[in-house]
Amino acid sequence: MIDPFGRSIDYLRVSVTDRCDFRCVYCMAEDMSFLPKAELLSLEELERVCAAFIRLGVKKLRLTGGEPLVRKGVMGLVEKLGARLGQGLEELTLTTNGSQLAAQAAGLKAAGVRRINISLDTLNAEKFAEITRWGRLPQVLEGIEAAKAAGLSVKINMVALKGVNEDEISSMLAWCGAQKFDLCLIETMPMGEVVHRAETHLPLDGVRRRLGAEWTLTPSRHATGGPARYWDVAETGGRVGFITPLSNHFCDDCNRVRLTCTGTLYMCLGQEDAADLRAPLRASADDAGLEKAIVAAIGRKPKGHDFDITRPAVARHMSLTGG
Ligand code: 5AD
Ligand code: SF4
Repeated sequence: MIDPFGRSIDYLRVSVTDRCDFRCVYCMAEDMSFLPKAELLSLEELERVCAAFIRLGVKKLRLTGGEPLVRKGVMGLVEKLGARLGQGLEELTLTTNGSQLAAQAAGLKAAGVRRINISLDTLNAEKFAEITRWGRLPQVLEGIEAAKAAGLSVKINMVALKGVNEDEISSMLAWCGAQKFDLCLIETMPMGEVVHRAETHLPLDGVRRRLGAEWTLTPSRHATGGPARYWDVAETGGRVGFITPLSNHFCDDCNRVRLTCTGTLYMCLGQEDAADLRAPLRASADDAGLEKAIVAAIGRKPKGHDFDITRPAVARHMSLTGG
């Protein structure tokens, strides 16, 4: 599938639930309201939509949330999708907060998942509780340990927050290096109303300069086709990536679209335009109408976003589309 700007779209991110067992301050409001359960696509329906995307050329799937592993029965979906690896699908991955990994990591590996992204903004237990409101650090560290033991390759996502965890970025880099995890630093993006987002926004160009004074960073040839720009860290043999949606644009080689758990397809993280796939999915047991709706949606993928940290670019929170 080629979009109007010549970009090949071969990556689908699927938010399997908008619910989460954490309430990270930059992601959610404390009193979030979630989608009514009756509106959710069933796991079978999610699989059908994924299969249609794979037939149309999607090679990489990422399950996200909310927290994907809190959706009941989600491992069944992971297994079904895993069975499609090598048949058009090349990679199946997951973005998780780590809370359920102690129990689920081995199952993910067995289903064919090779790499996962785990969100971890701090190694300080008090700060972790502050940032995630409901999360507890030891549970997540246990999950990360389980992922490592299962042989999953781990990337840590750290949202950089001014005055909150900015003094920990270097020590996180050292910790990730010792664990053989890549680290990816993310700037807060203006999605949905939350408290104090503008005050904690930390531009990553300065962070990279300060890290460069402590660590030997050289531009990496590693590229995931995603928005992160990577640097090799000589001292650890690992890598550090930077996702800078505000301080520079990453839209030019965007290869992805995002499906919510109700079957809404967002063609851009920073735009409101969306396509409803649930109606064509439910209209008929044959997938012709669904495929037509997908192709039409890709045909109006916008050029990019225009984030401004002082106001939400879109009303929806990140937990609806999983970043
Ligand atoms: N801006 C940037 N990153 C965010 N995440 C959640 N909300 C936001 C936001 N508003 C992060 C999570 C996770 C990833 C999926 O997105 O911490 O690492
Ligand atoms: Fe949950 Fe991730 Fe949002 Fe935190 S950032 S509340 S872990 S979805």
